[in-house]
Amino acid sequence: MPENTINLKIFRFDPENAGLDTHYQTYTVKTEPGMTVLEALFDILDNQDGTLAFRYSCRWGICGSCAVSLNGKCRLACNTQVSDYSDTLTIEPLPGLDIIKDIVVDLEPFFENYRKIKPYLVPKGTPDKENIQMQEDVNLIEPHVKCILCAICEASCPVSWTSREKYIGPMALTKVYRFNRDTRDSGGKERLEIVGDETGVWRCRTIFRCTEYCPKKIPITEAIQFLKRRYFTD
Ligand code: F3S
Repeated sequence: MPENTINLKIFRFDPENAGLDTHYQTYTVKTEPGMTVLEALFDILDNQDGTLAFRYSCRWGICGSCAVSLNGKCRLACNTQVSDYSDTLTIEPLPGLDIIKDIVVDLEPFFENYRKIKPYLVPKGTPDKENIQMQEDVNLIEPHVKCILCAICEASCPVSWTSREKYIGPMALTKVYRFNRDTRDSGGKERLEIVGDETGVWRCRTIFRCTEYCPKKIPITEAIQFLKRRYFTD
């Protein structure tokens, strides 16, 4: 293997030929200092194979679009350096999801669950002036407010993989926590009702993989445990 190169072994799936054309394709990329996995994918797209499909937007760890599986662990491609790997890096779609093309997956089931929990502030009455938050109020929702909806928590959770239709998932539950702890919100009871059954908080088996892989280091498992306690005390 020549110096300053890496092999990217990428999952390929062609929807036009579904089921017949699923394979891995390996590309050798010349690496540069500071090169991210997303930049390596662009290098392939620009110089070797214009048919490769991957999702991205901000390239800066903010939009959450470029989540993929890297050597079996879910990560943001734009936030991961190729120098973290040697020889061969296997890039696959997020597990447990329908594949649209190559490493692009269908995230709609997650966003469907996300929309169910009223992911917005439900104001207390009609605000007639600015609703000021003090630092201690902000501390209640930090770092949960940093969630970028990348779905890495969902794709890392074995309960989500195995019972996707029966579990609302850690991404939606993190948002319930974020809005329910917001001092300006009054929709908490209603959200708890939505996630208070066996398809919500009670399906979480505290496996902690959501917390382990969250790129924003959000303590998701703790948030879910908090919601379970709240269910009995509110
Ligand atoms: Fe899954 Fe996280 Fe619960 S990995 S089971 S949502 S603690």
